[in-house]
Amino acid sequence: MGLNFQVSNSPFNEEQADLLNRLVPTLSEHQRIWLTGYLTATSSGGASQAVLQASAVLAEQTQALPQTAQVQTVPKEVTVLYGSQTGNCSQLSGKLTAKLEQLGYKVTRASMADFKPGNLKKVQHLLILTSTHGEGEPPDQAIGLYEFLHSKRAPQLPDTFYSVLALGDTSYEFFCQTGKDFDLKLEELGASKLAPRTDCDVDFDSPATEWMEQVIGALELRTSGTTVSVAAGSSVASTAAPSLEESYSRSNPFTAEVLENLNLNGRGSARETRHVELSLEGSGLHYEPGDSLGIYPQNDPKLVDDLIEALNWKPEEEVQVHKQQLPLREALTRVVEITVLTKPLLQQIAGLAPASALSELLAVGHEEELRSYISRHDLLDLVQHYELTGIAAGELVPLLRKIPPRLYSIASSPSANPEEVHITVRTVRYENEGRERSGVCSVQLAERVEAGDALPVFIQHNAGFKLPEQPDTPIIMIGPGTGVAPFRAFLGEREETGAEGKSWLFYGDQHFATDFLYQIEWQKWIKSGVLTRMDVAFSRDSEEKVYVQHRMLEHSRELYEWLQAGAYIYVCGDEKKMAHDVHAALIRILEQEGGRSADEAAAELIRLQQEKRYQRDIY
Ligand SMILES: Cc1cc2nc3c(=O)[nH]c(=O)nc-3n(C[C@H](O)[C@H](O)[C@H](O)COP(=O)(O)OP(=O)(O)OC[C@H]3O[C@@H](n4cnc5c(N)ncnc54)[C@H](O)[C@@H]3O)c2cc1C
Ligand SMILES: Cc1cc2nc3c(=O)[nH]c(=O)nc-3n(C[C@H](O)[C@H](O)[C@H](O)COP(=O)(O)O)c2cc1C
Repeated sequence: MGLNFQVSNSPFNEEQADLLNRLVPTLSEHQRIWLTGYLTATSSGGASQAVLQASAVLAEQTQALPQTAQVQTVPKEVTVLYGSQTGNCSQLSGKLTAKLEQLGYKVTRASMADFKPGNLKKVQHLLILTSTHGEGEPPDQAIGLYEFLHSKRAPQLPDTFYSVLALGDTSYEFFCQTGKDFDLKLEELGASKLAPRTDCDVDFDSPATEWMEQVIGALELRTSGTTVSVAAGSSVASTAAPSLEESYSRSNPFTAEVLENLNLNGRGSARETRHVELSLEGSGLHYEPGDSLGIYPQNDPKLVDDLIEALNWKPEEEVQVHKQQLPLREALTRVVEITVLTKPLLQQIAGLAPASALSELLAVGHEEELRSYISRHDLLDLVQHYELTGIAAGELVPLLRKIPPRLYSIASSPSANPEEVHITVRTVRYENEGRERSGVCSVQLAERVEAGDALPVFIQHNAGFKLPEQPDTPIIMIGPGTGVAPFRAFLGEREETGAEGKSWLFYGDQHFATDFLYQIEWQKWIKSGVLTRMDVAFSRDSEEKVYVQHRMLEHSRELYEWLQAGAYIYVCGDEKKMAHDVHAALIRILEQEGGRSADEAAAELIRLQQEKRYQRDIY
């Protein structure tokens, strides 16, 4: 290649131009491609090992191509598909898309639910961002594509280059399972990796950014037949946020004042559910019914003190943690997670205490025991059970994950409550091995937060749980317990906007007398016609336990008629039991009232899900 760098026609000084003029002609094609990818991916700073690897892999792939293929221009076109339940992958895909568009790519960005799998064969560059939900299951948005790729209809994809960003949580047994499944399946179908899959734990910001840098570097390399120029400072990490992004976010929470904090349950209830109102004044934050509020909680000070005591640490000792130098007590209260154990954490701690019996728990053959231990214990248990008292704070604390934010389905309509946000929080308290255990965030809200206090919050947008666009579309809302929260937002919004669609709410809890959350509001909406119909199931008021799914089945004919009339179905609340039972009840109704087989009814429900007529906010 006849390049000649001169001071007049390049941004280099004389010495640099001279060096380049001596170096570049000596480079092989392979070395030039490697260097292009390296410079692209690292234009904001240091290169990670993974970026270097991706660059090397691509250079090798390109070298292996026949000579003619190297000079073909590869279009700067990318398809970004996300499978998100609570909004993280959706948000990250927006960030990635904005970045790619800045670099001149034509990006097709879609939720997996909106993407026609038949079009997959036409996609040359495919970037997948997916979380995992349930116990290793795909998020609702991803089910259709996931099943298609795992079916006999899945096409071979020899011309596709792809990469997967997997979001998950190492405290789950099937960590990032859906991302792993997509990655493996695409590989089996003959697609080539643009960059290796990245699996992210709850603190996903930096690994996700690093993955974006890698894929952009790799894409630039593949499409460099058309352009290789990347503006300085254009890495994902350093670019301005997309214009639509608000200044306060998950990584930069707003400090919101608490306006009200009440217990909604009556005296004598086994439950405690807090209704918390917060001010968003001055934040510039906006939300829609169906979105969630994220809160960064603090650990229980009593648990923090017990842990410090058990380890013979000094509360004021300075520790280095997540890029901050803090007194130990503050770090344990505000920054790191002490209530959840994960296998990677136990492995690291075992490395600090090699003589401990902890290594046995981690040994091959003890998997079930390990799973059970992790699910029932916290860090204080671990320290006490395995006598880990010799470990220094400076060794252990940096191994702990950041406290992840908790999400709460927003219970207010922004039209009815401008600059405010309301949430409905069930207090988590239980006992294990003689010690009272408290949910970090819910008990903080119940015991240590009152009106006038402030909390770090952000809005988690959720496009997958939204009122129908047409205001006259009927809606069926199934939300026992705190699952009813977003329906207070839905009805508040429909009241404000004068939407005329019919609405039907299924609600349930233990007792009518003490656990009927927001009872007066539902009654008011029934009276005004905003809520057309309400069916309730109080499980402990009768001999036999009744739940919302029983009420749905009792009214299966009418429910089916609502569906025939185009109703949207919304389910919110408990993911482990309720959501499965309600799903099964819906299949029964489609089977029984629609004359379908069980398989046809299940397929119909998936179709409704893909058409966004069956939406879930489950946890
Ligand atoms: C999208 C989304 C929306 C949500 N909306 C709401 C909402 O509107 N209202 C609401 O209240 N919550 C909601 N949640 C759940 C909420 O985010 C928190 O998970 C919940 O409040 C518990 O948080 P915590 O910090 O109090 O408890 P944590 O400290 O996180 O402890 C909870 C954990 O304790 C353990 N645990 C609980 N009970 C027992 C028991 N009896 N025995 C043994 N172990 C037990 C379980 O491992 C459980 O996961 C939502 C979650 C998501 C993802
Ligand atoms: C109810 C529920 C179940 C989950 N199950 C898993 C799981 O089985 N494996 C995993 O790695 N992560 C699991 N997660 C963690 C999510 O994947 C993680 O929070 C992710 O950031 C969510 O991304 P999203 O907002 O795009 O859905 C679960 C989260 C929730 C709320």
